[in-house]
Amino acid sequence: MCGIIGYTGSKNITDVLLKGLARLEYRGYDSAGVAVLKNKGIDVVKKQGKLCILEDELKRSPITGTAGIGHTRWATHGVPNDANAHPHRDYKEDVAIAHNGIIENYRELKQTLEKKGYGFKSETDSEVIAQLISAEYKGDLRFAVMAAAKQLKGSFAIAAIHRKEPERIVGIRKDSPLIIGLGVNENFLASDIPAVLEHTKNVVYLENNETVDMNRDSCVVYNDKDEPIEKKATKIDWNISQAEKSGYKHFMLKEIFEQPEVLKNILKKRVKNSDIVFEELKIEEDKLKKIKNVAIIACGTAYHAGLIGKYLIEKNARTPVWVDTSSEFRYRDPLVDKNSLVIVISQSGETADTLAALREAKQKGAIVLAICNVAGSSIAREADGVIYTYAGPEIAVASTKAYTAQLGVLYLFAQYLAVLRGVSDIAGTKRFLQKLKEVPALADRLLKQYQANENRMQKYAAKFHKYYLASNNKSCFLYLGRNINYPNALEGALKLKEISYISAEGYPAGEMKHGPIALIDENPWVICIAVNGETYEKMLSNIQEIKARGGIIIAIISEGNNDVRGKEAEYVIEIPKTDEIFSPLLVTLPLQLLAYHVAAEFGYDIDQPRNLAKSVTVE
Ligand code: M6R
Repeated sequence: MCGIIGYTGSKNITDVLLKGLARLEYRGYDSAGVAVLKNKGIDVVKKQGKLCILEDELKRSPITGTAGIGHTRWATHGVPNDANAHPHRDYKEDVAIAHNGIIENYRELKQTLEKKGYGFKSETDSEVIAQLISAEYKGDLRFAVMAAAKQLKGSFAIAAIHRKEPERIVGIRKDSPLIIGLGVNENFLASDIPAVLEHTKNVVYLENNETVDMNRDSCVVYNDKDEPIEKKATKIDWNISQAEKSGYKHFMLKEIFEQPEVLKNILKKRVKNSDIVFEELKIEEDKLKKIKNVAIIACGTAYHAGLIGKYLIEKNARTPVWVDTSSEFRYRDPLVDKNSLVIVISQSGETADTLAALREAKQKGAIVLAICNVAGSSIAREADGVIYTYAGPEIAVASTKAYTAQLGVLYLFAQYLAVLRGVSDIAGTKRFLQKLKEVPALADRLLKQYQANENRMQKYAAKFHKYYLASNNKSCFLYLGRNINYPNALEGALKLKEISYISAEGYPAGEMKHGPIALIDENPWVICIAVNGETYEKMLSNIQEIKARGGIIIAIISEGNNDVRGKEAEYVIEIPKTDEIFSPLLVTLPLQLLAYHVAAEFGYDIDQPRNLAKSVTVE
């Protein structure tokens, strides 16, 4: 939540800060602001609302300077308004800070400072940081920041500037991400890589309790004992076009269309001849051979990928798996120990609950493997081993390509484990990989057909929109799936509700008679995932039961199937034929597109849905 950018160098300061914030806006977008150092003072401009409002303000009243910080906010303490927007200043206006995280003891600190005469202007927890740094300042910003940080409880990434130190930025982190971008005669500080990608690909990840002290021609990192430490820069292989829309109307649409390539890339990187290779895994094969159970922990979309992972690992590697949301796992004294493999899945690698669950699992002696998209993120660093998903930057808040990439890795890992544990052999792996390798081309064909057919999903969405208005806003969606596609029903519903704000439920179709069938009348549109497979006939029965009660059905079927077309199902979506086990990789595509088009029909902001932020770095 919240994005931070800092820049010291000779480029146009507001230009760098605004562009950086635009690439961080996915982290929060209810207000934004910048603070720029100039002539022994600090200019602060901050505005409630999306970044474009701040941009307009800065066009009207431009500011220039030598170094500065910027922030895009997702509100935790205090409503989104100009006063609560960051950067915050101390009452003397000597210091400005941008903060990501939550300061749990801000009330106590505020009371103490108020007694000393420090006046506060906002309702935020973050303002206290600026005041504390000011109180601790004795001529050296780094010392002041470190002394202030020692008094803070909670999570924070902080960028700070002081009016008497015109080119200097100091950053510090604990449990919220902060990276350094190294340039030539310029340096950057940011919450995430896309913010600096236009300027540099040399990045240093700051660890917990480390402080960075930078100006345009030097950048030194200190540990918590105030000793300078050597940090290795990582060369980022993302390119800037991956962080841009490249002609697509929205990032979400672009990312949906990137999925065949993402899958192809994973297979290219991970499959060498018929061997599955995870170079960065680091967990010894011997240890994996001995595990007795697997727990998969994640949030949101990553949790749904984990549910599919359960089917895959149990089917291929015959090892028991349970799946939990991170927020439940972390608080219930979970039964994992040295015989457990705990797989944490996270696109961002910074989700607070998943990070806490990882720590809990490690503390209990489990082996922790992270499946993660963002290299060097906290989760990737703290796990015993990591498998990167190589999906490239995912900008839209609604996750699409990261999900497919997580699935791609889970397919490979399940088979890798199967071989390791003697459940499958080389011939079995060859057959499995051969089929899996067909999927990217099938996904590509499916998406191209969709483009050529301009466009079925849009028509369904338009019809739903009309229907919704006619029903007095009562229409909603129900997603039904079985077996390995049941998690896709949950994921389809999540995609729809997060960007369309329309009520959507996902259910295992077999549960219908145990309650949800009571919902069926002429209002819900029921998405039935009815692709060829073991439970296909059962799904057909579900479809008939829904039809008999007046439900409107969109059936997702395998190509060439005429069982429900023009009969029980008002609408059908065909996906290319493949073995059932691989079908989730294809089924998810029309579900994503349907959610996209429904949101577009309603005219909502697809990439930045209300109340959400991409990485949930607070609990
Ligand atoms: O970065 P993570 O994968 O840990 O994020 C987990 C969820 O917050 C995320 O998947 C969220 O549910 C998405 N907005 C769903 O589209």
